[in-house]
Amino acid sequence: MKERLQELQEEAIQQIQGTQDLKELNDIRVSFLGKKGPITEVLKGMGKLPAEERPIIGEVANKVREAITNAIEKKLATLEQAEVEKKLASQKIDVTLPGRPVRKGNHHPLTAIVEEIEDLFIGMGYTIAEGPEVESDYYNFEALNLPKGHPARDMQDSFYISEETLLRTQTSPIQVRTLEMHEGKGPVRIICPGKVYRRDNDDATHSHQFTQIEGLVVDENIRMSDLKGTLTVFAQKMFGEDRKIRLRPSFFPFTEPSVEMDISCKICHGEGCNVCKGTGWIEILGAGMVHPNVLEMAGFDSKKYTGFAFGMGPERIAMLKYGIEDIRNFYINDRRFIDQFKRA
Ligand code: PHE
Repeated sequence: MKERLQELQEEAIQQIQGTQDLKELNDIRVSFLGKKGPITEVLKGMGKLPAEERPIIGEVANKVREAITNAIEKKLATLEQAEVEKKLASQKIDVTLPGRPVRKGNHHPLTAIVEEIEDLFIGMGYTIAEGPEVESDYYNFEALNLPKGHPARDMQDSFYISEETLLRTQTSPIQVRTLEMHEGKGPVRIICPGKVYRRDNDDATHSHQFTQIEGLVVDENIRMSDLKGTLTVFAQKMFGEDRKIRLRPSFFPFTEPSVEMDISCKICHGEGCNVCKGTGWIEILGAGMVHPNVLEMAGFDSKKYTGFAFGMGPERIAMLKYGIEDIRNFYINDRRFIDQFKRA
């Protein structure tokens, strides 16, 4: 019996040392030390031994069990250690690896143009004013001398939210809001950028949502020549010092007189070409002297104060400046398009 136990010990230790696998090691433990294992089997036969031999065999059996357990424990430790090392080796961080480049964004061409125009006017003493995109009929139309039923409302097909609320069709309501805040006292010198909405079918030159920038100056003794001078500076800074401007009579309900400003064509310098459709001029913006009704409704004394206003579409300005042919390019966020424009 003693020999059998010794044999089992040797056999077990051999198997333990031979394995490289945690699961196999566990199988070995079960097969030798488990309830159905050979050592338990041997001990079951102890009853047949003479009484004086029993403690001796018992002691041997315990020693064998202990030896096997120790061997398993030792092996377990080495295998686990090896596992950890393997993991560490496979997860090693290579600090010499070059970093992944982070893509740098840049301004959307529309944002760049808006900021360029803003900066230009800030340089002339203007401040920026903003207003809500969901606007009341009063500010969008009525206070701008466009009462309900006025035919000029048709020029700006609108998205109404309710009878009295709509998505603003122009940035002009910001004029009125700002004038009201000034409580009848000049000077007012603002530039108002923002999104506007009109019920247009989208095509290469129309969009149901686009951008406008509005300018407004109200003070004593503001004259048409101030408007012309301001717009000339703007046109030449924006499009080149050699550009000429011309003002054509036009109509807006909130300005009187009203004008449209053209700049001389960059391509043909006034000779007439494809870009300017043979006229030598390109239309840029609408403007005029603030209508006395608008000043009065906003609480300004129109005998004391006069002013001028102008409004333009940055999309159009950007299209002309960069030769962009389809307005929809601004809104689809194709990086191949956007990445071409870097603000100087
Ligand atoms: N709001 C006008 C438009 O959208 C433009 C404009 C603004 C004209 C200010 C004159 C003065 O057509």
